[in-house]
Amino acid sequence: MRITVIGCGYVGLVTAACFAEMGNDVICVDQDRERIAALSDGRSPIYEPGIEALLAVNLSGRRLAFTTRLDQALERAEVVFIAVGTPSSADGSADISQILSVAASLGQYLMAPAIVVCKSTAPVGTACRVQAILDQHCARRHLNWRASVVSNPEFLKEGVAINDFMRPDRIIIGTEDDHAAEVMCALYAPFVRNHERILLMGRRAAEFSKYAANAFLATKISFMNEMASLSARLGVDIEQVRKGIGSDQRIGHQFIYAGCGYGGSCFPKDIRALLHMAEAEDQQLPLLSAVEARNSTQKQWLFRQISTRLGSNLRDMTVAIWGLSFKPGTDDIRDAPSLVLVKSLLDAGVRVQAFDPVAGTNIANQFAAAVARGQLQLSEDQYQAARFADALVLVTEWKQFRQPDFIRLRELMRRPLLIDGRNQYDPQALQAQGFEYVGVGRPS
Ligand code: UGA
Repeated sequence: MRITVIGCGYVGLVTAACFAEMGNDVICVDQDRERIAALSDGRSPIYEPGIEALLAVNLSGRRLAFTTRLDQALERAEVVFIAVGTPSSADGSADISQILSVAASLGQYLMAPAIVVCKSTAPVGTACRVQAILDQHCARRHLNWRASVVSNPEFLKEGVAINDFMRPDRIIIGTEDDHAAEVMCALYAPFVRNHERILLMGRRAAEFSKYAANAFLATKISFMNEMASLSARLGVDIEQVRKGIGSDQRIGHQFIYAGCGYGGSCFPKDIRALLHMAEAEDQQLPLLSAVEARNSTQKQWLFRQISTRLGSNLRDMTVAIWGLSFKPGTDDIRDAPSLVLVKSLLDAGVRVQAFDPVAGTNIANQFAAAVARGQLQLSEDQYQAARFADALVLVTEWKQFRQPDFIRLRELMRRPLLIDGRNQYDPQALQAQGFEYVGVGRPS
């Protein structure tokens, strides 16, 4: 099939590369010239494991191309994916202006009745608004055909997005148009051996499903973080509770890891957008408000532990941080717990030595002034970060932090205080090695 993907961010890029990999003819459009130049050269502007290998193979196979020219990219398009950003507005609602502006351009340039797919996460009713814009343009241009708009939300996780795309749990296709449904099912057929994994529903239900899925996952995490805050007080290790409840198939093992709070570009933004959608309908969602509030508290947990152990005057102390991205496998720091921690430490006059395998530059850009005055140092490796530290905080559970050389670590640190924001270590083993260990929801 001839596919056009609009937006070369992480969703658009993964979508384009994976459809090309299945033999489709894909052209990807973005207005950012530098981005398009790099991509045409096989260099990815985002960190996503496996993406550059997919780019290389499909660029050389001429199944994938990049351009800044939307009009040209639409010339032969059968299916057009809209994968532009929907960031939070100041009031928390999702800003869909980029989608609406793409819709207007499509209305202008589409030459044939393509299927237009809303891939970006957007509030209920967005696909219908895109349809209305396209219909208006068709009427103005006196065309005797109509483009059909479909909602097809993505469920990709950063860091494992290619695997998620290639082996999806389910594909949601929101449309009331039989022809569009048929084309979309054919397009996704190679990705799903079991066709029951393709779920057809209305456009509004598809849009809502995406928000409900993220809200539910965030709720699981906040629930566990809340349980963790009580379990430690009761002398119970939340890790044992996690195993105890996760083995119940109705609960499941995934997304019940207590930690220092969820981050990323999706959960926080989507929950705010959902709360905003409810408000616009005069509805309260107290459960979701609590999920969000718990997460904000949770992100402050790391700093609270440091000040509890090291005292309220932290000036001129040194704190080491391992991991800065919002989770392993990505350089994304949007809404990451590390941002809250670094800011609190800097405000308290602490010297911060941080290490992350890929996200260091992003943090350095965010806190450029602190880097310039030498208060924040991005270390070359994890051990360098720990030198003369009064505490070490594990914020992101990259694999390379799982089994460090604890003897070396203890020798490097001024005070062997280890705050484990992801419950990666065995408290007894660390205490036996002379560390003062603090985990989330684990009695100390
Ligand atoms: C999330 C969803 O998992 C995807 O299904 C969805 O497509 C995506 O948002 C999106 O809307 O685009 P992602 O933001 O990449 O994906 O990250 P997750 O793997 O879901 O992790 C989110 C946060 O939750 C991370 O900060 C992670 O550390 C935290 N987390 C996750 C926990 O604290 N505990 C857990 O048990 C699981």
